[in-house]
Amino acid sequence: MSRLVVVSNRVGPLKDTGKAGGLAVALVDVLQEMGGLWFGWTGTISDEGSFGPLQTETTKNVTLAQIDMTQADYDDYYAGYANRTLWPVLHYRLDLADFGRRYEEGYRRVNERFATRLRPMLKADDVIWVQDYHFFNFAAELRAMGVNNKVAFFLHIPFPAPEILAGLPNADQLVRRMLAYDLIGFQTTRDADNFRRFVISEIGGTDKGNSVVSAGGREVLVRGYPIGIDAMGFSKLATTPDARRHTARIEKLTGGRPQIIGVDRIDYSKGLPERFRAFERLLEDYPENRGGVSLMQVAPPSRSELDAYAEIRRELEELTGHINGRFADLDWTPIRFMARSFTRRALAGIYRASRVGLVTPLRDGMNLVAKEYVAAQRAEDPGVLVLSRFAGAAEGMPEALIVNPHSTEGVAAALQAALNMPLEERRDRWQAMFDRICAQDASAWAREILADLDTHRK
Ligand code: ADP
Ligand code: F6P
Repeated sequence: MSRLVVVSNRVGPLKDTGKAGGLAVALVDVLQEMGGLWFGWTGTISDEGSFGPLQTETTKNVTLAQIDMTQADYDDYYAGYANRTLWPVLHYRLDLADFGRRYEEGYRRVNERFATRLRPMLKADDVIWVQDYHFFNFAAELRAMGVNNKVAFFLHIPFPAPEILAGLPNADQLVRRMLAYDLIGFQTTRDADNFRRFVISEIGGTDKGNSVVSAGGREVLVRGYPIGIDAMGFSKLATTPDARRHTARIEKLTGGRPQIIGVDRIDYSKGLPERFRAFERLLEDYPENRGGVSLMQVAPPSRSELDAYAEIRRELEELTGHINGRFADLDWTPIRFMARSFTRRALAGIYRASRVGLVTPLRDGMNLVAKEYVAAQRAEDPGVLVLSRFAGAAEGMPEALIVNPHSTEGVAAALQAALNMPLEERRDRWQAMFDRICAQDASAWAREILADLDTHRK
């Protein structure tokens, strides 16, 4: 059997430390099951950077192999091209994109350096699987070094319509380089269609049918593979003593009054200010909820050295102050905003104690929080998921209350419906979603991609 080699910017940790981010969470589950090598950044900046020692750590069947980067790499590649240029463009926010001159060069340099460090560790029959927008160029760099292994790519975030992507300088070059992969996976069929449309309309590729596109002498399998979570595992976490303690603490605090929960990295793609305003509208339009319903928002800071991220945090703190100042009572605080992380066990308990899961990104590749919320519910008395139509998860969770996150009234009305939904309807909707997320879990996701890679590149 071939060895699996996963490449991603963030690696691990394999333990439940409460580190946020969908990519690491999904891959920990997959690698622990399949075994293999996981290569990427240590998360540390040093003078030697990617020329420094390789740090390895083996736990059971998984070896982590990581290297540092320099301050310049961090500024140009990570904070620069990845998060100031690509992240906003791919989330349809051309208005926030910064096309700084050094960034693109830094991105190429780091892709090349990381590929150079991985190269000597590779065996001839390794299957390589590269993750996310940090490493669009990775396969092209490996191919230039003579690596002919099977290489798949998965994009965890959205791939925008060609009309948006075309706003990125050198978008056609970026897409051409992506064709060095044998398989390119996206979160939804819409993202895969957007990529296919770009290849055909902007770089003269052709659709060969059966999800294969051809361009520049290469034939690449392009498909949507919605990522899953370890749904059964997460569901069990919700009944651990640690989770129960968190459930009990919240139930004590709320005294049985309903809580709405939001859990997101502080990121402008998550629609957090819009969410807070929708909650305010719920209290305005449906005053019976005053003194009763509260919103808990758990939001670990993310990429906080970037202005757009610092600004959104400030805005959320202001909005919390404004809404609490306007509505709070002696024994009731409308919004509890916590800019911190929790372990996965604690989170599972928090989800379970919450009558409504509110997941309202303006754009999101998938959104694993939506699936975690469902997995953590009590089968006999489950909560209701309110989900943005712009989260990839909406494609596979039609039983959620699907909302437009830009519509303050619409989200408030959905919250009101969720808070008043009869038990039988809650159960029916929950059961359908729970069955589906168990069948389409993280392991099935990875297996399908690797099986398709194997068939496509015999
Ligand atoms: P993204 O990848 O954009 O961060 P996802 O919703 O797909 O969004 O994944 C986020 C992951 O990070 C989830 O597994 C979620 O549980 C985790 N997470 C988010 N916020 C927190 C938090 N405050 N504490 C711990 N984990 C968190
Ligand atoms: O899932 C999307 C993603 O961008 C991952 O690639 C990333 O690891 C995670 O969100 C958290 O972001 P960051 O690694 O920049 O802290």
